[in-house]
Order: sequence, then C-alpha cells, then structure tokens
Amino acid sequence: MKMLPTATLAVSAVVLVLLSAASSEEIFGRRLDAKAHGLRKQRLSHFRFYWHDIASGKNPTSITVVQPPLNATGSSTGFGMVNIIDNALTIAPEMSSRLVGRAQGFYALASQEEVGLLMVMNFAFLEGKYNGSTITVMGRNPVFHKVREMPVVGGSGLFRFAHGYAELRTHTFDLKTGDANIEYNVFVMHY
Ligand SMILES: *[C@@H]1O[C@H](CO)[C@@H](O)[C@H](O)[C@H]1NC(C)=O
Ligand SMILES: *[C@@H]1O[C@H](CO)[C@@H](O)[C@H](O)[C@H]1NC(C)=O
Repeated sequence: MKMLPTATLAVSAVVLVLLSAASSEEIFGRRLDAKAHGLRKQRLSHFRFYWHDIASGKNPTSITVVQPPLNATGSSTGFGMVNIIDNALTIAPEMSSRLVGRAQGFYALASQEEVGLLMVMNFAFLEGKYNGSTITVMGRNPVFHKVREMPVVGGSGLFRFAHGYAELRTHTFDLKTGDANIEYNVFVMHY
C-alpha cells in the first residue's frame, strides 16, 4: 500500500470522526475497552481426558463418510478417507469413567506417506463450570508417532479468545476393530 502524506491522514481521520458522529447507528468496527468486557488477566489451564474413537460395534461414534478407491495412490495409508466423529471424552481411560465432554468434528487421512490425519473438532465440555463451553482444535495427527501436537485455534464461552495446544498419546489402539483410546493433554490460554 502506498503511504499517504500525514496531512491527508489527519483530514481522513477528521472526516471519519464526523461521519461516525453523524450516523452512530452505522458503525461497522470500533475499539472497545477490553477490561469493560471482562477481559482482564489471561490464564493458562490444563485439561486431561481420554478420547474414544469407536468405529466398531452397534453404536459407533466415528463413521467413515468418504471411502477412497482401493487402488488410489497412497491407499496403504488410507489417504482420502474421511470420518465424522461424536466421540466421548472421559476423565479416565475406561469408557465407563465420568463423561466430561464430547469431541465433535471430523478427521481426514491427508498423508500419502504415513497415516496422518487432518483433525478438525470441537471439544464440547459437560463438566462443572466448563459445561457448555467449547475448545476448537485443528491440526495434523500422524497417529503412529509417540506424541503428537495440534493447535488449539479458538473457543467459546469460558474459552473465548483461546489459544494453545493439545498433546496426544495413544493409550490403546485395536488394529482389528480400529477403535482407539487416546490421552489428550490440552494447554490453553484464555481469559
Ligand atoms: C482404479 O480402479 C478403477 C476400477 O477398476 C479404474 O477405473 C481406475 O482407473 C483405477 N485407478 C487407478 C489410479 O489405477
Ligand atoms: C450441562 O448443561 C446442560 C444444559 O444447561 C444441562 O442439561 C446438564 O445437566 C449440564 N450437565 C452437567 C454435568 O452439569
């Protein structure tokens, strides 16, 4: 962008002020006082839970909605497959332990070299004061690596303006059924 002379900028600013004063109903963007909106000190929170990807049985919470052709390039890594999930998040590894939320979204097998997922999901929490608040994660998950990391890109409710990351470790993975139990440690900055 070309730089405008300072004088022109000053005049533009005055015109803008006059315009906005003239039609206060039609202000598109404006500055706000962060403190007045409850945004004071940022805090760092840690959440740990287990994510259950249940693809087998009568009540799967992870269903394949796109099945790539068997002979497609990279088919050994499942490249091209897409699953929609509504997976349980529990406080302990056991599925019978307390439900603290659900992971809703999808993952796509997006690597031709290894089993590598693109994951896009919301953690919809049910626990205590976090009930109704969400954290949004979008990232890359090469599932056979010992530790994977994905960015927290935002959130809602108590997690407005959230940013951070999630660390994933496989607790159990059943090659036969495809069911997976993954430990998530989520570190998130929020107000
Ligand atoms: C895969 O198989 C289908 C059906 O046999 C065929 O039409 C297609 O050309 C094949 N694609 C590749 C990449 O080999
Ligand atoms: C979470 O909130 C919903 C809706 O307000 C409510 O029905 C439910 O009982 C709450 N769950 C817990 C565990 O507090």
